[in-house]
Formats: sequence, C-alpha cells, structure tokens
Amino acid sequence: MYIVFTGAPGSGKGTQAKRLLAYLGIPHLSTGELLREAKSSDNSLGRLAAQYMDQGRLVPDPLVLELVLERLSRPEYASGCLFDGFPRTLQQAKSLDSTLAARGTPLDLVLELRVDENELVGRMLKRAAAERRADDNPQTIAQRMEVYRKETEPLLAHYSKQGRLATIDGTGAPEEVFQRIRRTVDAKRGRSQS
Ligand code: AP5
Ligand code: MG
Repeated sequence: MYIVFTGAPGSGKGTQAKRLLAYLGIPHLSTGELLREAKSSDNSLGRLAAQYMDQGRLVPDPLVLELVLERLSRPEYASGCLFDGFPRTLQQAKSLDSTLAARGTPLDLVLELRVDENELVGRMLKRAAAERRADDNPQTIAQRMEVYRKETEPLLAHYSKQGRLATIDGTGAPEEVFQRIRRTVDAKRGRSQS
C-alpha cells in the first residue's frame, strides 16, 4: 500500500508512522527525517536545507522531490511505503500523483491526523525540553503552523476530491489514535475486523 500521513506539525505523524510501519511491514519515507539526516551529515544539501528548516520554512520543492524520487526508485519501495510529512505543497502532491500513476501504483490512502492547535504547541514545547530539535521553539513553531495552513492544508481538498482522504482524530493516547488508524487502513484493505 502507498499511504500518506499528513497533519500539522506535532500532530503525531512520526509517532503513528512507527506503529503503522510495524503493522503493515512497508518502508518509511519521512522527508523531515531525510532532511535532518542531510543536515547532520553537513553536506551541501544539508547546509541548504538547514537554512529553511531552522526558520520553520519549507525546503524548496525541487530539492525535496529529488530526495523522494531517489528513494522511490529503490527496489524496497516498489510495492508500497508510508510517506510522512510529504507531500507538503500542491506541486509536491501533483508530482507524486504523476510518478505513482506512471508506475501503476496510485496512492491508496491519505490519512490526516487532526489535533487542535493549543495541544500541538504544547506537545512540541514538551518535546523541545526532551529532544532539542532545532525547530521546536515558540517562534519557529508559530512559523511552521502558518506554513502548514497556507501551503499544506489545501492538499486536503485535493485528496478529498480524489476520494482518498480519511481524517483521524489525533487526540487521546497514542495507542487509541493507532486503533483508529488501523481500523481505517483495514477497512481500505477490505478486511476490517472490528
Ligand atoms: P517534519 O519533520 O515533517 O516536522 P513537522 O511536520 O513539523 O512535524 P513533527 O515531526 O514536528 O511532528 P509529527 O506530526 O511527526 O509529530 P510527532 O510524532 O513527532 O518537518 C520538519 C521540517 O523539514 C519542515 O518544517 C520543513 O522545513 C522540512 N520539510 C520536511 N518535509 C518537507 C517537505 N515535504 N517539503 C518541504 N520541506 C519539508 O509528535 C510530536 C510530539 O508529540 C512528540 O514529542 C510525541 O511524543 C508527542 N505525541 C505524539 N502523539 C501524541 C499523543 N497522542 N498524545 C500526546 N503526545 C503525543
Ligand atoms: Mg515528524
């Protein structure tokens, strides 16, 4: 299956991706993680990406698309994967649609994790204390939220028109959220058990 996880910063995409990957046995494709890896290896891509990420702005589409298309060309991505934090712009979404259509493997499902903004900010500030992600500070969090609303939220209408969007309540314990996701995925696979 090809599944997209979307939702505002802090909505739980990474947390739930781990569970869903284990459940479905498909590979993960998180552009945030790929970009953070590039940043920590301090190559030219990483230095360029850091200029955007540390300000809470989106890394330019051509850079992100190059990273994603390289991954997708690997054999382990031939029969499915979980996109986490990608696509984030209409251009990325259209490019993904056409790449997957050309391979004959269109997206199966787009899962939106929905959580109210106060809770999102609280989660990220809590993580800031524990993990020190460079973009988890109040100013950058506000910028990431703004970018999400302007650039990424419009994708919900794009995928809804395609009949691929499922919105999941992302509040409650992570395990409860996962059970909602699992039911949606199972229903899509035509073997819902509950
Ligand atoms: P990215 O890494 O994708 O970050 P993000 O979207 O800002 O989201 P987060 O990773 O912060 O949150 P998440 O939804 O994964 O939630 P998580 O599970 O961690 O992108 C970072 C940057 O990279 C972007 O700003 C941009 O610059 C660049 N970038 C990435 N992709 C790009 C693209 N496609 N195009 C252009 N630029 C791109 O959870 C958050 C916290 O909450 C954790 O501490 C977690 O433990 C906690 N938590 C999770 N679930 C729950 C729960 N149910 N209850 C309580 N706490 C919870
Ligand atoms: Mg994440």
